[in-house]
Amino acid sequence: VPPEAPSVEVPVSVRTTIDRAARRLAAAGIEAPRREATRLVTGLLGASSADWWTRQGEAVSADQLGRIEAAVARRAAGEPLAYLIGSIGFRHLMLRVDGRALIPRPETEGIVDRALALQPGGRAVDVGTGTGCLALSLRLEGGFRSVVALDRSEGALALAERNRRHTGLAIELARGDLTDSLATDSVDLIVSNPPYLSVAEYRRLDPSVREHEPSVALVGGEEGIELTRALLDRGRRVMRLGGWIVLELESSRAAATAAIAVSLGWQDVRVEEDFFGRPRYLAARLDGGRNG
Ligand SMILES: C[S@@+](CC[C@H](N)C(=O)[O-])C[C@H]1O[C@@H](n2cnc3c(N)ncnc32)[C@H](O)[C@@H]1O
Repeated sequence: VPPEAPSVEVPVSVRTTIDRAARRLAAAGIEAPRREATRLVTGLLGASSADWWTRQGEAVSADQLGRIEAAVARRAAGEPLAYLIGSIGFRHLMLRVDGRALIPRPETEGIVDRALALQPGGRAVDVGTGTGCLALSLRLEGGFRSVVALDRSEGALALAERNRRHTGLAIELARGDLTDSLATDSVDLIVSNPPYLSVAEYRRLDPSVREHEPSVALVGGEEGIELTRALLDRGRRVMRLGGWIVLELESSRAAATAAIAVSLGWQDVRVEEDFFGRPRYLAARLDGGRNG
């Protein structure tokens, strides 16, 4: 009787790992399974998805395979890809992300372009900083004397602090409700992507967002517009005359948000579109009218 052949573990390649992950994600109904599988596998291997072509023949260790399979199962169950990879690109930065803060969205990058075109220097404040994406980008790309990142969530601030250290960009972090912790007449630029969904819109969100991203980052009040209105109102006290505010908004409430800004005495009020052609940003300047 011939001796039994010793069992030899055949190494699994990056390519096979991506193929398997893509099949699993497709079966779970994920919309772009191959793209997501490539990003997830390469991200967990510490590479960029552009590297997959040159690395596809490399072997994946049993340990790596275990971590990838666990992450694929979580993605198949609806957890957002960025939380599983643990990082996301925002403009020129690679930022850490986890469930303590919203995953920065591509359209939010547009706030930075508009803010830098209108007010590229002085003292800038990012209200509701989350990961710190806007404050860190302003610091990197603008010529500001100082940049302050505010949030009412301790978890978000801890993550922003991690991103501050990881990027080495000098921003100040502070906890507070909107701009209330700032001195009167102390800022030249306010940027914000405030929570702007209504309670009903929040309930209709895809579960992969609603069940994983913090509700404090998404809901702006019963009607959705409440926090934006409060920021336009309370932000006037801290703004130096001539300073600008640049906000992201819910496109269906663009006209209503602009009307609120005008009624509060903001001037040069303008609404601009995002790259999908939807009204997405409001910019306005304060030049008097603080008690409007
Ligand atoms: C839509 S997220 C935006 C995060 C980040 N700026 C981005 O664009 O990815 C809104 C952020 O505002 C914070 N926030 C909610 N209510 C706030 C308040 N009253 N004062 C300060 N921050 C608040 C949330 O914790 C959350 O981090």
